[in-house]
Amino acid sequence: MSEEKKLDGPDLSQGVPLANIADGGMLLGHVAGEAVLLARRGQELFAIGAECTHYHGPLAEGVLVDETVRCPWHHACFSLRTGEAVRAPALNPVPSWRVEHRDGIVYVGEKVEPAAGEPRRPPQRAPESVVIIGGGAAGEAAAEMLRREGYSGPITMFSDDDAPPCDRPNLSKDYLAGNAPEEWIPLRPPDFYREQSIELRLGTSVAAIRADAREVELINGSRQRYGALLIATGAEPIRLAISGNDLPDIHYLRSLADSRTIIAKAAASRRAVVIGASFIGLEVASSLRARGLEVHVVAPEARPMERALGTEVGDLVQRVHQEHGVVFHLGTTPTAFDRSGVVLASAERLEADFVVVGVGVQPRTGLAEHAGIAVDRGITVNEHLETNIPGIYAAGDIARWPDRLTGEAIRVEHWVVAERQGQTAARNILGARERFDTVPFFWTQQHDLLLNYVGYAPQWDRIDIDGRIEAKDCTVTYRHGGRKLAVVTIGRDRESLAAEIELEKTIAAGG
Ligand SMILES: Cc1cc2nc3c(=O)[nH]c(=O)nc-3n(C[C@H](O)[C@H](O)[C@H](O)COP(=O)(O)OP(=O)(O)OC[C@H]3O[C@@H](n4cnc5c(N)ncnc54)[C@H](O)[C@@H]3O)c2cc1C
Ligand code: FES
Repeated sequence: MSEEKKLDGPDLSQGVPLANIADGGMLLGHVAGEAVLLARRGQELFAIGAECTHYHGPLAEGVLVDETVRCPWHHACFSLRTGEAVRAPALNPVPSWRVEHRDGIVYVGEKVEPAAGEPRRPPQRAPESVVIIGGGAAGEAAAEMLRREGYSGPITMFSDDDAPPCDRPNLSKDYLAGNAPEEWIPLRPPDFYREQSIELRLGTSVAAIRADAREVELINGSRQRYGALLIATGAEPIRLAISGNDLPDIHYLRSLADSRTIIAKAAASRRAVVIGASFIGLEVASSLRARGLEVHVVAPEARPMERALGTEVGDLVQRVHQEHGVVFHLGTTPTAFDRSGVVLASAERLEADFVVVGVGVQPRTGLAEHAGIAVDRGITVNEHLETNIPGIYAAGDIARWPDRLTGEAIRVEHWVVAERQGQTAARNILGARERFDTVPFFWTQQHDLLLNYVGYAPQWDRIDIDGRIEAKDCTVTYRHGGRKLAVVTIGRDRESLAAEIELEKTIAAGG
């Protein structure tokens, strides 16, 4: 029996009084069985799909900013006028409807086809070809944006991964936990790249960049010319240099293949040890608990995520994991792996059927370094994401860009930042000269704890807490030298958006 979707609010095709929609407000309703968001700006009214195309977030619970609405879950942004996904992580538009206003009543009429793929304007510059090194968040978003912006020249995307671009954040969350089927993992269906004339060369490693000849050299020695180049090689897990690290039951998680391997291992195991209380380590711990494994986490800190989020949030994270049965071994590190488990510096020995190591990543900058591209703990790019070599751009986990909020060159490892950098780099390849000024955002999901982080505060001298951390209902603000640098919210999605908007205003006002 097919399950009928429950639709909230009025039938907007029957009309609603204009007075029911405040200026700058939104109303959730439906038309012909579809959830529709009606939004008002002055005397103008807009009707678009109410469900975010990323993970189906409820747009009516988001925030209107100018002619856009932002999703409360992971901050995607849609045009109210066209439904276009103007900011990642959503890549697809939402539908839009025509709206009529007669005698104080607003009627939502016929549906308008989504604006996907329609170029807004011809590109100002069209390089003879674009080569993208990397088939991850940044590379994929860039390739799509080149086409959305009307670029019709050849696009080649090289990836040394055998899998097409995938929803990497899911690999440690629902997919690893067994709650998301594998068909949700590719960012695009297999035909997408052919339809968009994007040549996706999987399992193909780029060995060198020959900037003088404007060529990349592949591992098999063949060469390919480029008009513009985007380096989006991401980061790779840091390997632990301790005895036993090459044993078959020591795993790292970056790719779909890694996640599949851990899932297969978990299916035949009873007990796992996770090394590292970072986001990935803790998400893995959560997902393995969801699969019923006994999970031990080993980390040098006094409490998980303390360095990134401070004592109070760290305590909450620890408590949530403990309530779900995770056992912590903190203030210690592994000194060796062997066939039966892990030996700790504290001399303790932990039995394990397998181990997952999540102790951070390092940017894959080797290609750039050898090509004479400026590298400083990441590829150095300017505000347009261009490297010191004109025509060569970098985006995603490898890029260190001038951030106006902190006044420093920063590099972050966030999905949304990587996608948005890919999109900005694509527009700049086409001559837009758009400044990358996005406020960093990431989210994490561990058991029933969902945490959003906006801004960037590698250090702080003050933390303000509004609400109750232990009730998972709070806003935590990190300041340095009196400046608000980052905000964590738990259970307060709209406040996360409000903080993002406030930080954007700080940047626009000159940092
Ligand atoms: C398990 C996991 C969970 C995560 N969860 C979150 C989350 O919840 N929220 C969040 O904000 N962030 C999360 N992240 C981080 C996020 O996924 C990264 O910030 C993002 O993927 C970075 O995108 P990127 O394009 O820079 O790199 P990647 O997505 O890693 O893509 C890099 C690509 O380059 C390819 N490549 C590298 N070198 C070469 C070469 N020489 N030749 C050809 N191809 C090459 C790689 O194969 C890969 O396809 C998570 C990361 C992981 C691993
Ligand atoms: S569900 Fe909307 S951004 Fe993720």
